[in-house]
Amino acid sequence: VSKIVVANWKMNGDINKIVQDLDYFLKHPQVNRENTILALPLPFLGLANTKLNTTQDVHLKLASQDASRFNGFGAYTGETSATMLKEMGISYVIIGHSERRNALAEGDDVLISKLTNVAMSEMIPIYCIGEDKEARSLGSYKKVLTSQLETLLKLVEFIEDNNIRLRRLLVAYEPIWSIGTGVIPTLENIIEVNLLIKAFMQKYLPRVKIDTLYGGSVSAANAKDILDCADIDGVLVGGASLIASDFAVICDVASI
Ligand code: PGA
Repeated sequence: VSKIVVANWKMNGDINKIVQDLDYFLKHPQVNRENTILALPLPFLGLANTKLNTTQDVHLKLASQDASRFNGFGAYTGETSATMLKEMGISYVIIGHSERRNALAEGDDVLISKLTNVAMSEMIPIYCIGEDKEARSLGSYKKVLTSQLETLLKLVEFIEDNNIRLRRLLVAYEPIWSIGTGVIPTLENIIEVNLLIKAFMQKYLPRVKIDTLYGGSVSAANAKDILDCADIDGVLVGGASLIASDFAVICDVASI
């Protein structure tokens, strides 16, 4: 079965790279498929969308790395709303990445606003959770992850109260100690957390289609082992997604 691959470029890349890499991705059928999602930097999403719209046989999808906590339009200097992203042809939005939770101090209230805004604009949230090194070594990681999942309960409440249909939600397990370090959890650890996420979702969001991802130092070398794990629906790739040929290898493994 074909699995999902999300590229998270973070604050990297320039116009030349976007054009070159998109050309490369579009030429490779294993990359140019519905289950490949590119989270390019926001300033380049319009350019990418125009390029994809003027090319034939495009299957891959675009994601935004963020959306504003504010909705619609208004006096919020520097913000980009879910409404605007939707109009730009964006299908997915990453919310809750540890870099934003930590470096940008995004707490529950902010994350809930972002999730509801994205849901209202009929885009699909890619919600990230992950424990830090301390929680992993103390063994309290399940508690941390569950509390991060509980943020989604407010989203559930909101969509039920407002009659919004959330078709799909992606949940990525991204242990902080694995991001950008080259260290990944054991496959048993990955499977354990994946089951925890699936059980939580089954209990609280039984009507939403949930796909689970693993993220943190996914590479061309380890992608197959991770994607072969039972019940994992895909991977979220940071560093390795910036090397087009490595990213193609990961997509290739995910297509089989
Ligand atoms: P990494 O980043 O693949 O470079 O570890 C993953 C992420 O932060 O999404």
